Amino acid sequence: MASAPRCFALGAGLVLGALPRLALAADTPLATHGQAVYEQHCAACHGTRGDGQGPAAVWLFPKPRDFSAGLFKIQSTPAGSLPSDDDLERTVTRGMPGSSMPSFTYLSEADRQDAVEYVKHLTAYLDASGQRVNRFEFARRNDQLGHPVEVPPEPAVTVESLTQGRELFVKLQCNTCHGETGAGDGPQVPALRDNWGLPIRPRDFNTGAFRGGHTGRDLYLRIHNGLAGTPMLPYGADVITPAERWSLVHYVLSLRRKDIEVNDMLAPEDGLIQARKVPRLPRDPLDPLWQSIDPARVPLNPLWPEPYPVPAVAVTALHDGQRLALLCQWRDELPNGAPVRVQDFQDAVAVQFALNGTPPFLGMGDADHPVNLWQWKAGWQAEVEGRRADMHERYPSMHVDTYFATSYQTAVEADNLIAVPHTSSVEDANARGFGRFNPQARAQQNVQGQGVWHDGFWNVVFQRDLDSRDPEDIKLALRQPVPVAFAVWDGEQRDRNGRKVISNWFQLILEP
Ligand code: HEC
Ligand code: HEC
Repeated sequence: MASAPRCFALGAGLVLGALPRLALAADTPLATHGQAVYEQHCAACHGTRGDGQGPAAVWLFPKPRDFSAGLFKIQSTPAGSLPSDDDLERTVTRGMPGSSMPSFTYLSEADRQDAVEYVKHLTAYLDASGQRVNRFEFARRNDQLGHPVEVPPEPAVTVESLTQGRELFVKLQCNTCHGETGAGDGPQVPALRDNWGLPIRPRDFNTGAFRGGHTGRDLYLRIHNGLAGTPMLPYGADVITPAERWSLVHYVLSLRRKDIEVNDMLAPEDGLIQARKVPRLPRDPLDPLWQSIDPARVPLNPLWPEPYPVPAVAVTALHDGQRLALLCQWRDELPNGAPVRVQDFQDAVAVQFALNGTPPFLGMGDADHPVNLWQWKAGWQAEVEGRRADMHERYPSMHVDTYFATSYQTAVEADNLIAVPHTSSVEDANARGFGRFNPQARAQQNVQGQGVWHDGFWNVVFQRDLDSRDPEDIKLALRQPVPVAFAVWDGEQRDRNGRKVISNWFQLILEP
C-alpha cells in the first residue's frame, strides 16, 4: 500500500482551478428523439446547451452538471476515462440521491437511452481547427473508452474487516474530509472546491444516501475511481489492495444511522403507483388494511442541501369505485405542527397531478401544463382537530396573567385568507409554474385529509371523489394513467415554500 495520501495535499486549500472554457459545439442540435426528451425533461436544469445553466439552476445546490466539461462523477470505468453508456443510463434511472438530480423511472428505457446519447453529444467542444469533437466519439475512435473496473466478490463483514476499515479511514486521511464520525465535517471542508470553483461538501455517511448507489459494489467503484471533478480522488491499485478497499466500503456502510432504511431510496422500476380496488376505503391512516399492501417507494430529492433530507415517501393507493384514498408515509422524528414563533415551520406533504396528461418539467407545472395540487399541513390538521397552536405548548414555563387569544391572531381578525380557520387539513390548489400558485375557492375545496404522527412516521391520507365537476380538478378513471408527483416539507429543518424535497413524476393507475 502506498503511504502518501495524495488527496491530502490536494484538499488542503489547493483549488483544482477553473476549467479552461472550451467553445461549445452544442449549438449544432441533433434534432433527434433524444434531443426532444432532453429538452422536455432535462434542459430546465442542465440548460439547452448542456452548460448546466438551465432556468431552474439558480434554485438548486449542488448545481446541475455542465456536460461540456466531459466530467462525470459516477463511472465504473477507471479514473480519467469517460463513463460507460450503462453508467450514464443507471444514473438517469436512479437519479443522484442527496442532490436534485431525480430518478427518471417514469421515462421508458428507450427514452432514457436516447437522452443519454444526447448528453454525450453535449460534451462536444471545438478543437483548434474549429472541428466539432464529441468526446465520446473521439474516445471510441482512438480506442480510449475505459473498460469497467473489475470488482472482486464482496467478502463477509467481520469485526476484523471493520477494524481494518477504520484504521485505513484514518491512515488515508478520509477523516480529514469526511469527519471522525463520517458526518462530512472534517477540518478540510471549508477549503474544498469542485472543478467549477464551487464549495463542495464531502459525503455525510450517516445519511446512507450516495449519489452513485449504496450497494457494496457501487461504493467499491467510487473509492477505486474517485468522483471526477471533485476533491474525492481515486484510491486505485497503486494506493490500496482490493481487500483493503472492501474493508473501507464496509466501514463506510457501517456509519449509516441505524434508523435509515436504504431500500427506501429505490424507486419502483416501472414508475407506477397502482390503486387497488377495495369494498371499503379506510379513513384512518393507521387502519390495518393499509399494512396488507406493499407501498410504492418514491424517492425524494432535496433542491438545496439539508442535514437530513427526507429520502423517500412510501405511497399506497386504494379506491372503491367512487373515491380515491392515497396514503403517504415518511420518516420524521419530530412532528412539527402549527408554527407559533417566527422561527417555527410546519411539516407538510403535497401531491400534484398533471392536468392534461403530459407531465410538465418537475417544478410546479408551467403555462401549458397546469397542475392540481393537494397539500396537507400539520398545522391545519391541528386546527381542524381544535388544537390551535398554543404559546404554552412551545414555551411551557411561560407565565401569562391574562391571555387574550386575539393578541396572537391579528391575521385572523383581519380575515387574512391563510389565517381564517380551516375546515379541512388539505388545501386544493392549482399551479402554472413557479410562483403561479392559486388556492381554489372555498366552495371548490373538495379534498379531505387525515394525518397521524406515530412512532417516528407521518401517515397522511388524502381522499377525494374520483370524478369532479370542477374544471381545475384532476379527473380519475379506471385504467387511465395520471402523472403524479410528491413533495415533503420538514418543519424541523426549516423547510417552507420552495425549500422542500421533491419526487419526479410517477403514473397513478386505478385497477378495475
Ligand atoms: C431538477 C434538476 C435536474 C433535472 C430535471 C435533471 N438533472 Fe441531471 N443533474 C442535476 C444535478 C443537480 C446534477 C449534479 C448532482 C451532483 O453533482 O451531485 C445532475 C447530474 C447529471 C449527470 C451527471 C452524472 C454524473 O455521473 O456525474 C447526468 C448524466 C445527468 N444529470 C443527466 C440528466 C438527464 C439525462 C436528465 C433528463 C432526463 C436530467 N439529468 C435531469 C439536476 C437535474
Ligand atoms: C480531500 C477531501 C476528501 C478525502 C480525503 C476523501 N474524500 Fe470522499 N468525498 C469527498 C467529497 C467532496 C465527496 C463528495 C463529492 C460530491 O458530492 O460530488 C466525497 C464522496 C465520497 C463518497 C460518496 C460516493 C457517492 O456515491 O456519493 C464515498 C463513498 C467516499 N467519498 C469515500 C471516501 C473514502 C473511503 C476516503 C478515504 C480513502 C475518502 N472518501 C477521502 C472528499 C474527500
